[in-house]
Amino acid sequence: MKKLVILISGRGSNMEAIVRAAIPGAKIAAVIANKPTAAGLAFARAHGIEAEVVDHTAYADRDAFDNALAIAIDRHEPDLVVLAGFMRVLGDAFVRRYEGRMINIHPSLLPSFPGLHTHRKAIESGVRLHGATVHFVTPTLDCGPIIAQAAVPVGADDTEASLAAKVLVQEHVIYPQAVRWFVEGRLRVEGNRVTVIDADLPSDGWMVPLPDA
Ligand code: GRF
Repeated sequence: MKKLVILISGRGSNMEAIVRAAIPGAKIAAVIANKPTAAGLAFARAHGIEAEVVDHTAYADRDAFDNALAIAIDRHEPDLVVLAGFMRVLGDAFVRRYEGRMINIHPSLLPSFPGLHTHRKAIESGVRLHGATVHFVTPTLDCGPIIAQAAVPVGADDTEASLAAKVLVQEHVIYPQAVRWFVEGRLRVEGNRVTVIDADLPSDGWMVPLPDA
């Protein structure tokens, strides 16, 4: 059984998608939020998952917060740390501690649009395809080896909100899928490239839905 700790900051819909996927061989040991108001905590508790808060405002600086978070995580001895809408930048030492066993979802087709406001940036830049990326976390923000991506078309009438909603639907598909591949030991990382052994998405870790799907 592979143990997972999921980190959230708010709504937690990606965490919810991973919980609902009920991945064989995966046990969600804990959900940890950096905000006591994170809505996803209630969902986790309602599903019998240990849910706790490491409130970043209670710590003097990033290192102190990172240390407290690492202690909370390590208590569960996880095989995989899953960042699911976790909105704190983590320090290099923290990232290195979990290198190869910490993954993130980012709402853009990386390497386009790292950082915040990805949907606005996609609309402003005029791209025709936007999407989401699941990747291993490395010290450079939103830059680690890519495990899975899903693309959605950007329509002429799309707003930041409509695009976010379309992308979120795909996030909920590729994130549980990527977690499952990790749990099944099917991800091989060489440099910046991830090979999915016997991938069961249409191709090796990507999908593009039809425009009105
Ligand atoms: C998602 O779009 C995720 O990609 C981004 O923040 C959002 C979090 O949503 N980092 P949720 O908390 O998983 O519902």
